[in-house]
Amino acid sequence: MAGSRLWFPLLLAAALAGPATALWPWPQYIQTSDWPYTISPHSFQFQYHVRSAAQSGCSVLDEAFQRYRDLLFGSESWDGSALTEKQKTLEKRSLVILVVTPGCDQLPSLESLENYTLTINNEQCFLLSETVWGALRGLETFSQLVWRSPEGTFFINKTEIEDFPRFPHRGLLLDTSRHYLPLPTILNTLDVMAYNKFNVFHWHLVDDPSFPYESSTFPELTRKGSYNPATHIYTAQDVKVVIEYARLRGIRVLAEFDTPGHTLSWGRGVSGLLTPCYSGSQPSGTFGPVNPILNSTYEFMNTFFLEVSSVFPDFYLHLGGDEVDFACCFVRPHLPCFGPLRYSVDCYFRKSNPDIQDFMKKKGFGNDFKQLESFYIQTLLDIITAYGKGYVVWQEVFDNKVKVQPDTIIQVWREEIPVNYLKELALITEAGFRVLLSAPWYLNRINYGPDWENFYMVEPLSFEGTPEQKALVIGGEACMWGEYVDSTNLVPRLWPRAGAVAERLWSNKVVTNSEFALKRLAHFRCELLRRGVQAQPLNVGYCEQEFE
Ligand SMILES: *[C@@H]1O[C@H](CO)[C@@H](O)[C@H](O)[C@H]1NC(C)=O
Ligand SMILES: *[C@@H]1O[C@H](CO)[C@@H](O)[C@H](O)[C@H]1NC(C)=O
Ligand SMILES: *[C@@H]1O[C@H](CO)[C@@H](O)[C@H](O)[C@H]1NC(C)=O
Repeated sequence: MAGSRLWFPLLLAAALAGPATALWPWPQYIQTSDWPYTISPHSFQFQYHVRSAAQSGCSVLDEAFQRYRDLLFGSESWDGSALTEKQKTLEKRSLVILVVTPGCDQLPSLESLENYTLTINNEQCFLLSETVWGALRGLETFSQLVWRSPEGTFFINKTEIEDFPRFPHRGLLLDTSRHYLPLPTILNTLDVMAYNKFNVFHWHLVDDPSFPYESSTFPELTRKGSYNPATHIYTAQDVKVVIEYARLRGIRVLAEFDTPGHTLSWGRGVSGLLTPCYSGSQPSGTFGPVNPILNSTYEFMNTFFLEVSSVFPDFYLHLGGDEVDFACCFVRPHLPCFGPLRYSVDCYFRKSNPDIQDFMKKKGFGNDFKQLESFYIQTLLDIITAYGKGYVVWQEVFDNKVKVQPDTIIQVWREEIPVNYLKELALITEAGFRVLLSAPWYLNRINYGPDWENFYMVEPLSFEGTPEQKALVIGGEACMWGEYVDSTNLVPRLWPRAGAVAERLWSNKVVTNSEFALKRLAHFRCELLRRGVQAQPLNVGYCEQEFE
């Protein structure tokens, strides 16, 4: 084998292997064959190589071995006593894992390497990875290579894979404010994310309708701002569980606390936080975004984000900053004005609230409300920077020319306004900022027909720009906003559609053949059903094994 490391070009390999090699997402390099080796569930083991930096006791891998054993062979126990001696020796095949650098107790980060090589040949099944995170990706690939004959025998074909992600940030956003998602729903989603090699859970925790995050410093936020403080909240313990569950699957938790807009639910628990709207010369009883002119606002944010910075260990926090409009009805274009607190159309707060007008005059902002918004966001960013955190913000922060640190990550979500999203990527990277793409990947928008293809055919780097600019695109996120989604329909709406985004962010740029993708994705969808995930169908047809 050594010396003959001839990689098949991707599409040639695909043509040779046919749909049978139905990996999702498709690896960077693969050489596969029809030569099958049997795997015996009686004797199969995951084994640490003696020279591996990770050894037994490494929680990330020990637990992954258990999960993948169950996924491969079911949770039934395979008792080897019925086997003959000959069968026992014939079938002794294990997967040997060698991790180069230690890090079982660490958290994955934006900089984590996830590359691995997987070798299945006469002598062995061998998984080599730089980090435990890469080993997790390789284990997933291994699990997708194992197949079962109609007689029930397990096989794996002779294969060589060298794999690594195209982009380091491959995220999925869940919105737990429009609808509360129970803890098990979130954990199950993390499992399926790992099957797809996603590595960032963007947790849009709170928004206008509800505030389910239980704050230890401001318990009133949840008590008054959640749908139901007895049932519809995430306790400190819940949050810990999510972070550890995600870590064990090589997934970062990027928590979003969106301000100054999208904050109606905050206002119920913290009086004076939101800007009073005026009707004529009187407060109208309705509220706009976080009040940017009060010192008390920044004192609150200081204390609140001190807590958040320690609860969420990832280097990055998501600070929102989207849709701070100059009218009070700042809702995402994809949702109607609704929710427990209604916005009123008369509340052009900044144009009518006399205190705001005085403040702007004093600051010399004239009538430019963007400067007022910038003032707020800059002050907030200074707070976060002082806590040693980095941040991600929605694109409006850039569009409105807020001064941000050069290492800020900007997330593009608007498809056409103010410019087409590709143009927006060009502008942001031209200014030297790193960027995440989400605009074409709003999974909450549904259509009749195979809309996964629209997600799949997006090429994030197809904007005009230098190679340096393109290198600033660190990945993207599929978004599932929660207006019309709760735990009853989340799973089929996410899967396998989100998989289209997962492959676009992991696989090589040239993997764009949608027929080849459809075959593999349909196969993967059947595999998801086998794994207990209620993934919806992609087209007319059936799964070999009926799970529906
Ligand atoms: C493995 O090889 C068998 C023939 O032995 C072939 O039928 C099958 O398609 C191959 N499967 C994969 C996953 O490559
Ligand atoms: C992973 O990538 C790093 C950096 O590119 C490289 O040094 C290392 O050899 C790779 N490891 C494996 C197992 O492919
Ligand atoms: C807010 O704080 C600033 C700076 O510390 C101070 O100059 C200003 O007087 C304070 N404003 C109010 C209304 O307390």
